[in-house]
Amino acid sequence: MTTTQDVLAQLDQVFDSSVSRLAQWLSIPSVGTDPACNDDTRRAGQWLVDQLSAIGLEAQLAETPGHPVVMAHHPGPVGYAGPHILFYGHYDVQPADPLDLWKSPPFEPVIEDGPTGKRIVARGAADDKGQVMTFVEALRAWKDVTGEIPCRITCLVEGEEESGSVNLDNFLTDQREALVGTGAANGPCDFVVVSDTGMWDSNTPALTTMLRGLIYLEFILHGPSHDLHSGMAGGCVPNPINELTRIFGRLHDADRCIQIPGFYDDVQPLSDALRAEWEALGFDEQGFLTECGLTEDVGEYGYSLLERQWGRPTCDINGIVGGYTGKGAKTVIPATASVKVSCRLVPNQDPDKITQSFIEWVKAQVPPACKLEVLDHGSGRPFVMAPDSPYVEVARAGLEEDLGKRPVLMGCGGSIPVVESFKRILGLDALLVGFGLSDDRVHSPNEKFDLKCFNLGQRTHAALLSRFAGMQV
Ligand code: BES
Ligand code: ZN
Repeated sequence: MTTTQDVLAQLDQVFDSSVSRLAQWLSIPSVGTDPACNDDTRRAGQWLVDQLSAIGLEAQLAETPGHPVVMAHHPGPVGYAGPHILFYGHYDVQPADPLDLWKSPPFEPVIEDGPTGKRIVARGAADDKGQVMTFVEALRAWKDVTGEIPCRITCLVEGEEESGSVNLDNFLTDQREALVGTGAANGPCDFVVVSDTGMWDSNTPALTTMLRGLIYLEFILHGPSHDLHSGMAGGCVPNPINELTRIFGRLHDADRCIQIPGFYDDVQPLSDALRAEWEALGFDEQGFLTECGLTEDVGEYGYSLLERQWGRPTCDINGIVGGYTGKGAKTVIPATASVKVSCRLVPNQDPDKITQSFIEWVKAQVPPACKLEVLDHGSGRPFVMAPDSPYVEVARAGLEEDLGKRPVLMGCGGSIPVVESFKRILGLDALLVGFGLSDDRVHSPNEKFDLKCFNLGQRTHAALLSRFAGMQV
């Protein structure tokens, strides 16, 4: 495989310029959920279109009712007979707040020294612009070294992942024929490659085999029509904060089991084989806690930390507001209180069913004196990789041979709902190959991406492109 080795050498040689390109993209504040950033979000999409066009792909922004999707295509070499890869990533980023906790401004990327080498610090560095660029740089290197892209590829990079990919299911349905139809102009896609997950550690690449699902609800409890004097009304009228915290105080029992009726009914138990496989990874529980600024854990009784994170469902209050939170004391019974709460779901749990029982459970406990309002902020289904996917074995063996590193199979605590949509709407399996680390501070101030991971990601995609090209379809 001299060609692959040449491409890898090229990646190392131009690595500094690839970091500059990433820094340029990171300086565009594409906060998808913030309407004030709408122009910048589109500009970030257009930036990627321009990059892909320069590499020789046919690229454009495809409109949706929300932020546009970057769509790009390359047919591969003349006479190509291998699989057609659909690459997925996202160019939107989480809001940067709280701003005052950033050591440097979130959209002015800086290179810093860290314990494991240099890193680039900016919102979106690891989630997901840096990861998308690992693929783009691999394409560029193949083009520069050989004059062509070895594989037939379609890139789909969306701008609404962090807002729950609300328009993507419709987009995929509309594009079904073009993406997987037998008459598709570019030939049907065969499988999806996603780079939006993590590595095991900075030396060990990983394929992620499971993603958790998600539901996100907001409960607003209305009591009196306006705030009341607590001396006059306290103890006589419903206090929405008292009621809400009474209800949510019962969410978990002492063993941290979720008390919503039927919550665990459909949960697929972790097999002994999978538990043993995860155990053998030798997860550093203490290191994880240290990273969180803790020494002790709290979680569901009877499961290891890794099992809780990857393979068990959870329910967490993300925010709770109401009443007087200003300086000093103010004696008041508030008119309303609200709570935002999400559940991570595992295979076989149905988000609609869980949403239903959650709402019923809360409703049944609300006193008649209060009115309950419920907002649904979206959901996503859990995902399990096809266990017999030929792409997984090719990827594992190929990376071991080309890079000298055999990827481990791991789970993931996070959610990428669209991965299940690719299966449900397009019938495509996905390979999740990501390069983040658990200390990347994604969604939090001072997000970073280790340059070592950026480099390994580029090398991984460069090797995978040629390995996949050689497969029979
Ligand atoms: N890249 C993350 C998913 C992820 C998180 C992978 C942690 C590996 C480790 C993704 O962009 C994300 O944050 N997804 C959201 C879900 C979405 C519906 C808001 C999440 O998991 O909270
Ligand atoms: Zn992401």
